[in-house]
Amino acid sequence: MSITPVPDAAIIVVAAGSGLRLGAGAPKAFVGLDAHTVLWHSLIPALSTRRAAQLVLVVPAGLEGDARTEAMDAAATVAAAATAAGGGEASDRFELVRIVAGGATRQASVAAGLRAVWPDVRTVLVHDAARSLTPAEVFDRVIDEVERTGAAVIPGLPVVDTVKRVDAAGSVGATVDRDELLAVQTPQGFRRDVLDAAYAGATAEFTDDAALVAAAGHPVRALDGHAHAFKITTPADLERAKTLLGERAQQADARGTRRAESVPGQAAAPGAGALGMRVGIGTDVHAYAAEGSTRTLWLAGLPWPGERALEGHSDGDVVTHAIVDALLSAADLGDIGGLFGTDDPAVEGAHADVFLTRTRRVLADAGWAIGNVSVQVQARAPRFSPRRLEAQAALGALLGAPVTVAATTTDGLGFTGRGEGIAATATALIVRA
Ligand code: CTP
Ligand code: MG
Repeated sequence: MSITPVPDAAIIVVAAGSGLRLGAGAPKAFVGLDAHTVLWHSLIPALSTRRAAQLVLVVPAGLEGDARTEAMDAAATVAAAATAAGGGEASDRFELVRIVAGGATRQASVAAGLRAVWPDVRTVLVHDAARSLTPAEVFDRVIDEVERTGAAVIPGLPVVDTVKRVDAAGSVGATVDRDELLAVQTPQGFRRDVLDAAYAGATAEFTDDAALVAAAGHPVRALDGHAHAFKITTPADLERAKTLLGERAQQADARGTRRAESVPGQAAAPGAGALGMRVGIGTDVHAYAAEGSTRTLWLAGLPWPGERALEGHSDGDVVTHAIVDALLSAADLGDIGGLFGTDDPAVEGAHADVFLTRTRRVLADAGWAIGNVSVQVQARAPRFSPRRLEAQAALGALLGAPVTVAATTTDGLGFTGRGEGIAATATALIVRA
């Protein structure tokens, strides 16, 4: 076991609430999401940061022993995943875990956690265990930004709902400008001395740590949060978290990853190599439908009425299918058959929007952004060039990345040259999100 250096950052995970709104009959952190608890899942990213950090776990008094078991198991899982991903023998971050009892309010729990932070620590993150599925990369970005700016740093997402002011009598007033609003998440990061001083001088209860630090006169900066960092508050939130984990498990199965070696949605993604990017390739072939078929040709995300259609369980769009395979191959997430079974009712007659939206989401969940995609089509018909730009725009919009498509005939050679079907080859570049 390698020696872990003394960390200069700490993550306080507050898990001492009772979870009244969830109403699960147990403290929220100890409620199960799958085979593991809310707490276990929240510890996985906190133990997976790029640089090891001290982990202070604040739990209800009397549950310290249970918390220790959870932390030990989570640390072992992270170490196993790191080793399986080729990182050599991973250090056991359990030696960086401290467990303390919380207080009557969240603020009292954070204060208890702060008292257990080691002297060498200069940057402190405070995180709600209830935001269990927050990816490790958010923790890394918050730590980096605190170190870079010295300011308090909070992740958040733009507010999508229309927000209005309303008075106590229920009378609705002005609409608030959404551009000025941020739905705030955790982990929130601080210079240790700033957070210590703000807590030492606190005279009121605040809803989050950034508010306390701002009240003490310190600057607070925002950075992009993550959709998976939502807080499990109500039974509906719990269901959402369970669904997300179910999807992650399916993807792990599709990859053939042995579950014991993978951390759901975290270290399971394969290495990005020295460049932080990977490429993939995919091909697809479909035969033309028989003469007189009533099917419509779908190619490169567009309908081509009047052109000879392709056979297939789905729309037979070889360009889209080749793109899906190129993206999945780049991310080592299996292939189109694993993600879209032919028995999947969503696939029957499905078009590019279904295929590419789901593929994009699966990649995003695994921590990948799409760099670009390039496709070549081999076909005698239709004549592709008049609609090339339209196709590129349609596919690009679905993937949120540039897509180029070119077409060629094959000089009368092979099955495409004989006009028996259409083939497409795609390459994709993906980068660590
Ligand atoms: N928390 C804490 N100590 C408290 C209260 C809350 O450590 N005395 C933690 C919770 O465990 C949670 C986070 O603060 O991770 C956010 O709080 P919240 O979502 O409100 O959780 P609960 O207080 O447990 O839930 P409820 O308010 O529904 O009782
Ligand atoms: Mg609460």
